[in-house]
Amino acid sequence: MGLVDIPYYQRLVRAATGPVLELGAGTGRLTLPLARVGATVCAVERDPAMAAQLRRRLDDESEQVRARVEVIEAEMCSLRLPTRFMLVIVPANTWLLFPTAAERAQVLAVIHAHLHPQGRAVLDIFNATPDERVLDRWIEDGHAALDAGTNVSRLVRLRRIGQPELQQLELTSRYEVDSPRGSLRWEQTQPLAFLTPAQGRAECQAAGFEVRHIHGDYTGRTEVGPHSPRQLYQLRLPIGERTAALRSRPKEDR
Ligand SMILES: C[S@@+](CC[C@H](N)C(=O)[O-])C[C@H]1O[C@@H](n2cnc3c(N)ncnc32)[C@H](O)[C@@H]1O
Repeated sequence: MGLVDIPYYQRLVRAATGPVLELGAGTGRLTLPLARVGATVCAVERDPAMAAQLRRRLDDESEQVRARVEVIEAEMCSLRLPTRFMLVIVPANTWLLFPTAAERAQVLAVIHAHLHPQGRAVLDIFNATPDERVLDRWIEDGHAALDAGTNVSRLVRLRRIGQPELQQLELTSRYEVDSPRGSLRWEQTQPLAFLTPAQGRAECQAAGFEVRHIHGDYTGRTEVGPHSPRQLYQLRLPIGERTAALRSRPKEDR
C-alpha cells in the first residue's frame, strides 16, 4: 500500500464541493491531512481504541481543523446519517476487510445511501491476485512522519487461507511507531479478500453505481492494468438518479 495516497485524496477533496465521508478512518492517518487542506470530514471508525487515538490526535490540531472533523464511532454497515456527501472514500484496502461479496455489497449500499446525487465515491484496494512470491514474507509497506517527531512504519505479511476459490488471504500488519513519548509496536491480523478489476466492477455495478474509472495508481491518470499496484474505483450514481435529483430541486437551487 505505502503511505503515498495522501496527495491523491487531497486532490479529490479539493475538487469536491461539500463534505467528505471516510469509512474506516482508523487513527486519522488520512482524515487529518484532508481536514488540514480544508475538507469537512465525517470519520467513521468501529474500533474504540482507534477512534480514541484519532480524537487525541485531533486535540493537537488547530481549532479550524478540529471543527472540520466529526468522529463517529460506529459499524459502517449500519450507518444511517441524514447528510449526503459529495465524496465518500473507503481507503487503504478497507473494502477488502469484508471477505464475502454479500458483505462488500452492504458497504456499497451504505455508500449509495450517503452519496449526494452529484457526488463521487472512491474505493481503494490492492490489485488482483497476489504474486506467490509475496506470500508468507514480511514486506516493508511504507513509513511516514505522522506529526512532529512521530514516525510510523508498517510491515505486512500475506497468507492464503481457506478454499482457493474464496480468494481469501490473511493480512498481518505490524506497526512500529517512534515518538518523543516512546516507541510502540503492535500487530493486527485480519482476513482479506482479493478481487480482480472485473469482479470489483461487477460488484459496484450490481450495487447501482456507474464505474467512471478504475485507476491503477495514485496519479489518478492511468486505468488499471495487470501490473498496476492499486485498483482505485471512481464511482458515481447513474445518470437517471443524478438528473432525477436535479429535477426535484427547486429551480433557484440548481
Ligand atoms: C486499513 S484501516 C484504514 C485506516 C485509514 N482510513 C487509513 O487509510 O489509514 C481500516 C480501518 O477500518 C476500520 N473498520 C474495519 N471494519 C469496519 C467496520 N465494519 N465499520 C467501521 N470501521 C471498520 C478498522 O478498524 C480500521 O481502522
